[in-house]
Amino acid sequence: MSSKVHTKYICSNCGAETLKWMGRCPQCGEWNTLEERVETMAPKSLGPSLSANLQSNAKPQKLSAIHFNGDKRILLHMNEVDRPLGGGIVKGSVILWGGEPGIGKSTLILQICHAMASQGERVLYCSGEESEIQVKLRAERLHVNDENCYIYAGSSIDGILQEAENLKPSMLVIDSIQTMYISGVYSPMGSPAQIRDCTSALVRFAKRTNISVMIVGHVTKEGNLAGPRILEHMVDVVFYLEGDRSYQFRVLRTVKNRFGSTAESGLFVMEGNGLKGIEDPSKYMLRNRSESAPGSMVVACMEGLRPVLVEMQALTVHSVLAIPRRIAAGYDYNRMNLLIAVLEKRAGYFFGNLDVYVNIVGGIALRDTACDLSVCLSMVSSLLDRPVSDKLIAIGEVGLGGEVRSVPNLEQRLHEAERIGFERAVIPKHSLNHLNPADYPGMQLVGAAYITDAINALKSDRL
Ligand code: TYD
Ligand code: MG
Repeated sequence: MSSKVHTKYICSNCGAETLKWMGRCPQCGEWNTLEERVETMAPKSLGPSLSANLQSNAKPQKLSAIHFNGDKRILLHMNEVDRPLGGGIVKGSVILWGGEPGIGKSTLILQICHAMASQGERVLYCSGEESEIQVKLRAERLHVNDENCYIYAGSSIDGILQEAENLKPSMLVIDSIQTMYISGVYSPMGSPAQIRDCTSALVRFAKRTNISVMIVGHVTKEGNLAGPRILEHMVDVVFYLEGDRSYQFRVLRTVKNRFGSTAESGLFVMEGNGLKGIEDPSKYMLRNRSESAPGSMVVACMEGLRPVLVEMQALTVHSVLAIPRRIAAGYDYNRMNLLIAVLEKRAGYFFGNLDVYVNIVGGIALRDTACDLSVCLSMVSSLLDRPVSDKLIAIGEVGLGGEVRSVPNLEQRLHEAERIGFERAVIPKHSLNHLNPADYPGMQLVGAAYITDAINALKSDRL
């Protein structure tokens, strides 16, 4: 059979296609991202299982005539995974798991396999990175030894789909998409062309057979899944497992979810025998907190839809450098500089000849602007070398004018602080009008309109 071959160039950043090679992608403007892809116009070479996937006989159906019997989800009984999924795995869905190498993706997915297999659901775990023995060793560490869990070490998507076709599992795992290849695509494993075609074959397979597919993808050094837009468009759910590898704390963030809220997240701690969901995140994050030292404060941030209290520390010391050092660990460096500028201009505290260090304890990365007020107060506390009362919490965003602005989910943050034992809260003055103090019987609410008011409130406390 003569097959027609033609060449295309695909941008590894945005997935745009051109017929000619160019130094710069005409769509996204990135340089040197166009990669050659040779295509053979012979769909039969994809093999019978894949060409059968193409649903050419699909007909339009009335929305009212499509019935949903309600048992389309499989609950894993792993709270920290079920909740971000929107209440369990939807049958036939394709879930992409991104994350840095070594963060715990394979571990978490093997635990999910166990959760499924122990309910009598068959699972096929395909690894292109590890041998069966290596997967078995990990499974022993996790105490996973299920009859219904099948391991397959291979890299050919055609072979994997054939095995899945025979085995008819409830879930198919591909670990990782960068180590897979499909026939008919003459690009190396891990190239955008291979990733795209392997994923699209898996998506078609999932929709046709109603088997859920979990795809593991490693992130590039820029923090994107290789060929980011290409992959994220194609799948139903995108999760990122994040964390600092030198800590045990991990966050499962939802980037996209066609069946649930992307505001949900899962919190885990990596232990010797796998990832364990954290039931009470605030207690976990504050477990090592001793009496307040100067510069130490507790911030109430939102992790997904849940409030979590986290300890943060600031340290200001006399600088011996011409340009003082500013270091932020777990916090946005530019935001820290902005807050320092506000404190200098609006409150009269000068950091010009001081090195400033801000550290978020426990390996969590804070992105919540509601922590601004705490960051400011802890820097002032360190500057004055006087501790903040450990019964006091501050919640609010700080503007460039030094004003304290209201923040979302204030009520939940306050309830969480009250539950943990905080007795006084400095909050935006504007928000005070909308709150009923009787809702917080164990807590005194203090309104601050400007950063200076918040600093005065602290001074009248113990600062
Ligand atoms: P892994 O799941 O292999 O990461 P990924 O698939 O994202 O590359 O996890 C590897 C790390 O997790 C490794 O450094 C060891 C650690 N680990 C534990 O701490 N406890 C465990 O029970 C397991 C299985 C791994
Ligand atoms: Mg892995």
